[in-house]
Amino acid sequence: TRTPVNVTVTGAAGQIGYALLFRIASGHLLGADVPVKLRLLEIPQGMKAAEGTAMELDDCAFPLLKGIDIFDDPNKGFEGANVALLVGARPRTKGMERGDLLSANGGIFKPQGAAINAHAADDIKVLVVGNPANTNALIAQAAAPDVPAERFTAMTRLDHNRAISQLAAKTGAAVSDIKRLTIWGNHSATQYPDIFHAEIAGKNAAEVVSDEQWLADTFIPTVAKRGAAIIEARGASSAASAANAAIDHVHTWVNGTAAGDWTSMGIPSDGSYGVPEGIISSFPVTTKDGKYEIVQGLDINEFSRARIDASVAELVEERDAVRELGLI
Ligand code: NAI
Repeated sequence: TRTPVNVTVTGAAGQIGYALLFRIASGHLLGADVPVKLRLLEIPQGMKAAEGTAMELDDCAFPLLKGIDIFDDPNKGFEGANVALLVGARPRTKGMERGDLLSANGGIFKPQGAAINAHAADDIKVLVVGNPANTNALIAQAAAPDVPAERFTAMTRLDHNRAISQLAAKTGAAVSDIKRLTIWGNHSATQYPDIFHAEIAGKNAAEVVSDEQWLADTFIPTVAKRGAAIIEARGASSAASAANAAIDHVHTWVNGTAAGDWTSMGIPSDGSYGVPEGIISSFPVTTKDGKYEIVQGLDINEFSRARIDASVAELVEERDAVRELGLI
């Protein structure tokens, strides 16, 4: 029998947490044969609701779920963690400036990074979901100097999945026929969903679509603003689709990408494609044996270059802002 994998989830009492925990416990995060122990981290006001969710998890009698503990102290929450999903964050409220938002999140992600550094397992893998995800991941990573930087990742898989869905709807293809799509840059409105290297049933997606105006005026803004469209329609932000993407991100990282395909992950840049080293930006990556590699050698046309540069410029600004605030 395998030793259970310790999975820490922050923001466990939130709406993404509610959509996420049951899927982790039923084996979708790591595999149908991998037992898990959940460590839920909340703030004191969220503890009671997290306990309620834990009661429901008990009531599912999931065979793979070997324990649930709930904490409001990050030092305890990340103890022995093999996988950490950092979902809880401070949302932007009305009239909040970017600096205020970054400081408020620095107050969450800096101590969480330090707690991961001090208490997580040596093989810790971190996914940051809470926004601004890329920069929150950078803050946590900077606070964890003893953990290899590449273990800190940010979620752009929801954007990736949204782009696949939009492209399938446009072309009438099955989602499973779409490969090699890439989200570049920041998980924000400046992100760039790139179909120039994507394939639809083996054919180049940009050639299949063959409509640059649709790409520029419909596809890209629809994917980039999908979060706002969901809020408008549901009256609440994406939760089940975000949880699903978090599951996909970690599952792919741990279990590998399919031959001939890749995925999108926000990861510390090594300087590839002119993205400044160290910022956490989305790239096309392949994964194998729990490690990822940036897909190299892609030809970046002018259309793509301008959009990648714009999103990366935003990430550099965010990095400079958190540096000025002393958060990294
Ligand atoms: P929510 O407000 O329903 O839940 C957040 C939970 O985090 C609350 O229960 C809160 O008590 C908890 N929390 C706050 N500070 C905490 C801390 N320091 N430690 C532990 N828990 C803490 O929010 P929801 O809808 O679950 O979203 C969570 C985050 O995910 C938001 O920042 C949202 O913007 C982001 N998000 C990211 C997406 C992505 O694609 N990267 C997609 C959708 C949402």
